[in-house]
Amino acid sequence: MQHLVVICHPKQRSFTQTAAHAYATSVEALGHEVVVRDLYHLQFDPVLGADELPSAGNPAIPAAVRREQSYLADAGAVAFFYPLWWGFMPAMMKGYIDRVLSCGFAYALQGDDIVPLLSGKKALIFTSSEVSMTELRRSKQWHAMRVLEEDNILSLCGIQLLDHLHLPSVKPGLTAQTVETYLEVVRNAVQEHWGAQPVPVG
Ligand SMILES: Cc1cc2nc3c(=O)[nH]c(=O)nc-3n(C[C@H](O)[C@H](O)[C@H](O)COP(=O)(O)O)c2cc1C
Repeated sequence: MQHLVVICHPKQRSFTQTAAHAYATSVEALGHEVVVRDLYHLQFDPVLGADELPSAGNPAIPAAVRREQSYLADAGAVAFFYPLWWGFMPAMMKGYIDRVLSCGFAYALQGDDIVPLLSGKKALIFTSSEVSMTELRRSKQWHAMRVLEEDNILSLCGIQLLDHLHLPSVKPGLTAQTVETYLEVVRNAVQEHWGAQPVPVG
């Protein structure tokens, strides 16, 4: 199976990047193919232009967006990695969703109905925050994030969310032991979801 790993973090040596590369390495070790799209490194433009609006009639999708759509079209699984910024995904990640999950590619409008176009694909979300899980739940950010990102965005496109793994209390001074424990969470998720998958020959 082909896995698309979408990374949203500006710093190469960040926890988010490290976790994403642990995922990619683990999936490759199982014999699967991986395509990594590092949005900041690619200098992906997150700003959706007027020409891309569904109301434009025949939206003009730029080549850079079409490229990302083709990676998503080819993938059986997609893993998103990003930190929590102000209780939500970073603007770069949101811009990827705005532009890449476009009308006509990720979903279609039929009268009042929204028809998912990416059915059959599976997703995993990996996020991190500075605050604890207790605080995320108390402030209802966890609930809000799940409703918006999982029950809305992915399901609307037909993508089945297998799991959302949140790694809390990621802040300066994080011990190497905690980092390793978290990377093990990522590797275990790979084993759990993809370990028993048949690997294509050739
Ligand atoms: C602009 C910005 C906003 C942030 N907002 C939050 C927040 O709302 N809640 C939180 O727990 N952490 C917040 N943080 C902290 C990050 O979530 C945390 O540093 C990150 O998860 C650690 O992973 P990293 O090393 O990959 O950046 C914010 C950080 C930045 C830069």
